[in-house]
Amino acid sequence: MRFSHQFPDRPIGLCYHELTKYHPTRGAGRGLSVSPAPPVTVYAASLPRVQLPEPELAGGLGLWEAIARRRSQREFTGEALSLQQLSQLLWAVTGITSRQEGYSARAAASAGALYPNDTYLVVNAVEGVQPCLAFYEVPDHRLCVLAEGSFAGEIAAAALHQGFLARASVVLVWCAVVARSAWKYSDRAYRYIYMDAGHLGAHAQLAATALGLGSVNVGAFFDDEVARLFGLDGEQQIVTYLTAVGRVRS
Ligand SMILES: Cc1cc2nc3c(=O)[nH]c(=O)nc-3n(C[C@H](O)[C@H](O)[C@H](O)COP(=O)(O)O)c2cc1C
Repeated sequence: MRFSHQFPDRPIGLCYHELTKYHPTRGAGRGLSVSPAPPVTVYAASLPRVQLPEPELAGGLGLWEAIARRRSQREFTGEALSLQQLSQLLWAVTGITSRQEGYSARAAASAGALYPNDTYLVVNAVEGVQPCLAFYEVPDHRLCVLAEGSFAGEIAAAALHQGFLARASVVLVWCAVVARSAWKYSDRAYRYIYMDAGHLGAHAQLAATALGLGSVNVGAFFDDEVARLFGLDGEQQIVTYLTAVGRVRS
């Protein structure tokens, strides 16, 4: 730990917290870097795409009922989601909800509107999509297929062998481009990246509940194994959080 000499014998988490505190006399961080903010993640145009249907803006369970019914569920039946359900889920988590000139705001809040967490997917069972690893392209509301095949066993193994992940219809995997937030917030960025990830997981669970689906958030995973699955380095792009979604018996 780079600054541990300032806090001898203190746990690393406390060092991080101390060193990234805003303080009335020390000011709020180091300010903006001179380099431009890193751009959005873009995959090769040659990779296959799956266009998602337009999300519905009406219907579904009311918010209060969804909050009351939300529960972590792990007994997935393995049955497929419809493409409309996947579309609705992704839109409700991180889809674009308003467009202004040069700026698009998304469903879940993000510090500085920087949206450092990208949404990757392990698609196990979705109608009209072969099992695959995919990336959600927010501006186009579509999937980019990164690798075809079943990765159900791999994602479960990479998440401390939590077997329910293999039976989920889809596992949303949030991976943050650290520089996208650190550009503005420096080392404090990690706080915001994880806060943002929490919002995404909360939206995902409420959306899944409103769709009559089961879900569970997952914070226990072998970081580097999940990162490797998606070809990420685990340092500049870090895995922050997972949400498994699937059908459950009512
Ligand atoms: C940050 C976080 C990490 C979690 N990680 C896991 C996990 O790795 N495995 C799991 O089965 N559940 C996980 N959960 C689900 C919790 O166990 C669950 O939310 C808790 O038991 C409360 O139950 P409820 O969600 O039904 O209200 C996680 C929840 C959160 C918020």
